[in-house]
Amino acid sequence: MPDSSFYAAVESRRTIRDFLPDPVPQETLDRCLEAARLAPSSSNLQPWEFVVIRDPKVRQLAIAACLDQVPAKTAPVLIALVTHRDTWRRNRDEILRIFESRGPLRRSHESYYRKIIPMVYRTGPFGLLGPVKRTLCRIASLFRPTPNLMSRADIRVMAHKSTALAAATFMLAMRAEGFDTCPMEGFDPWRAKALLGLPRGAEVSMFLAAGKRSEKGVWWDRALMPRDWSIREI
Ligand SMILES: Cc1cc2nc3c(=O)[nH]c(=O)nc-3n(C[C@H](O)[C@H](O)[C@H](O)COP(=O)(O)O)c2cc1C
Repeated sequence: MPDSSFYAAVESRRTIRDFLPDPVPQETLDRCLEAARLAPSSSNLQPWEFVVIRDPKVRQLAIAACLDQVPAKTAPVLIALVTHRDTWRRNRDEILRIFESRGPLRRSHESYYRKIIPMVYRTGPFGLLGPVKRTLCRIASLFRPTPNLMSRADIRVMAHKSTALAAATFMLAMRAEGFDTCPMEGFDPWRAKALLGLPRGAEVSMFLAAGKRSEKGVWWDRALMPRDWSIREI
């Protein structure tokens, strides 16, 4: 039997752009953040960071960075979801530490995280190795299936993909709890980055406003593309 509560959350989730002032209980927010931490990520490297903005001064500046969007102004909770493309070494080491603490490391884990991951993620000084790796892979792919050993730009895409899955998990968890969200990529990325004091390899992927929808929360009816534009079987 399908889990109907899952589908109920998926179907009732809408982008909410006007929120009631009612707070989100801390336990609820924590459960949703814990759910988001379980999202799948490329090589399990979890390149995300949910920054829950509590400080009223930071909140005001974050609202301005979000171009004064109504959801950023009205939501009781505003989160900056940061994506990190340079934390792979730290996170790789943590994965190895966790596995080692559970017993001898499997050889497949060892070689994947110690050899393959650096090959994929290292882009050399000024990222110059990236285009070289990419070009060599493209040529090899003419002869046999070859993975893309990524350039900096590819790694950025990878980090945003995984981070977006964490965002989706968070939003669905909030809905399952009876709360609502608005993802926002309409913001000033330079100001947002400076506001949070992010390092070079990090940027805000999106802001997430969260709370309970007001009567004016849904601005537009749902409009879905035809099924065969979105789903194809070959
Ligand atoms: C990555 C992303 C960025 C978005 N940015 C904004 C935004 O800046 N402001 C906004 O009002 N809605 C934003 N949205 C919400 C979309 O407009 C919304 O998901 C879409 O219209 C479908 O509506 P629904 O979520 O209610 O199904 C964003 C959605 C996504 C996934």
